[in-house]
Amino acid sequence: MSDILYLGKAKSVHSTDELDELRLVYLDQATALNGKKKDEILGKGQLNNEISSKVFHYLTTQGIKNHWIKQLSDTEQLVKAVTIIPLEVVVRNISAGSFAKRFGIKEGLDLPKPILEFYYKEDALDDPFMNEDHIDYLKLASKEDVSFIKEQALKINNVLIDLFSSIGLTLVDFKLEFGRDSNGQIILADEVTPDTCRLWDKETLASLDKDVYRKDTGDLVSVYKEVAKRLNERKGE
Ligand code: TMP
Repeated sequence: MSDILYLGKAKSVHSTDELDELRLVYLDQATALNGKKKDEILGKGQLNNEISSKVFHYLTTQGIKNHWIKQLSDTEQLVKAVTIIPLEVVVRNISAGSFAKRFGIKEGLDLPKPILEFYYKEDALDDPFMNEDHIDYLKLASKEDVSFIKEQALKINNVLIDLFSSIGLTLVDFKLEFGRDSNGQIILADEVTPDTCRLWDKETLASLDKDVYRKDTGDLVSVYKEVAKRLNERKGE
């Protein structure tokens, strides 16, 4: 057994025998409203591990440097150890969520070009919205690093739009986290799952993501299962 290094809202992080590798355990836990709404949901951990493993594997084949090494079990994966940069990088293709609310815009409008936002990853402050001057002032990342992160996030957006489109889903928006590996290189970390993406069925416009839990409009496990099933049945997989 290895030591727990960090207990997050949906995952725990554990050390391994290798200094530069970590074991992530996906938990059967769902939270919303920055942890104010919290439930145990049987099967969620397994589904998110499966979905994130598939997506990261695909990102690797598309040349996106990331932390994922392999899936270890139903709920565990092996990843490269990184120091997470405390930024939540959100990319939006369609108006929804906090963007629609903050700017008083209708949900579901195509954005003429992707909109990228930064949030300070700091639970105690409720992850506030921030800009590049704030990142610079707080010394979270250099200007060059921020440019690189933005470029990567937009590249990842294009890759993910195509991936989800191939399984009949529109990628509305998503959140990424980046980290520095032992060589100081910035790579994609954390997860890409229906917890961290808004995914709308192209035909019905139904949400196949955590919004069903946030808004109490459906069964989380059923919709995550549908995303996993479509990824598994994807042509060429
Ligand atoms: P938002 O519209 O609530 O700002 O969310 C934008 C996207 O980022 C959405 O796909 C959900 C994801 N997200 C996270 O993964 N974690 C978070 O803490 C928040 C606020 C959003």
